Amino acid sequence: MSAPTFSQRLDELEPAVRARTDLVPQVGIVLGSGLGGLADALTDAVAVPFADLPGWPAASAPGHAGRLLLGHLDGVPVVCLQGRLHLYEGHSERLVVEPVLLMRRLGAQVIVLSNAAGGIRVDWPAGTLMLITDHLNLTGRSPLIGANDDAMGPRFPDLTHVWSPRVNDLMRRAATAEGVNLEEGVYAGLTGPTYETPAEVRMLRALGADAVGMSTVLEAIVARWAGADVVGVSLVTNPGAGITGDPLSHEEVLAAAAEASSRFQALIRNFVRQVGAG
Ligand code: HPA
Repeated sequence: MSAPTFSQRLDELEPAVRARTDLVPQVGIVLGSGLGGLADALTDAVAVPFADLPGWPAASAPGHAGRLLLGHLDGVPVVCLQGRLHLYEGHSERLVVEPVLLMRRLGAQVIVLSNAAGGIRVDWPAGTLMLITDHLNLTGRSPLIGANDDAMGPRFPDLTHVWSPRVNDLMRRAATAEGVNLEEGVYAGLTGPTYETPAEVRMLRALGADAVGMSTVLEAIVARWAGADVVGVSLVTNPGAGITGDPLSHEEVLAAAAEASSRFQALIRNFVRQVGAG
């Protein structure tokens, strides 16, 4: 038997959510490492643990709760992924992207992807927020290899505007309105789970990357493929390997995320209110 198509998988997943809530989200938000606190701001939230969704594992990465939440953020209907699925956990590229496709199926037209990332730019301290204006998919994988699900998106998707210029402008406006400094740059996505070597960080700089992490790129590709407007924010939690010479640790990543959490939340909430006022 051949593997199920994305449409078939979503036909299984959607009813499992709809059994709990009929909320139709305008925005889908993927909360990266240490950034899950935004979910506490939801009102009337219905939480669905990943393990209750057919075919999904409990999220295992530290700092990732592993729940889908549907509710209102400042009055705007949203769906949040508190925690995500990663390639480094051994998940297939197809499973990694199912959460964003499910958000889209539930009704979200705008998908916000957030992550913790290493800084490639030497002048960016830990705590820098970066609007993702483009990406390098260096995972060596694509979730769209195989028979194309024509009902969902084209065989050869255009990625010129995978990071929506229109929606980027809303995020810039949100940053200005909240007095939050928002840098801009290119996110390089690798599989992890190792952090990079200093030579790899120099290579990434030469390739045009400004930040590096272990998520996001595959999700952005399928969200765009499926017709969503995609926007992304990286929180630079540490200078990339070799920049200071200090070893990197997940504790450092989570501590920087906690420190930046209120700025991040203010930014995303303002953005969501703008989409809601649409
Ligand atoms: N590299 C890759 N992923 C990361 C980093 C890093 O330096 N920091 C947080 N996530």
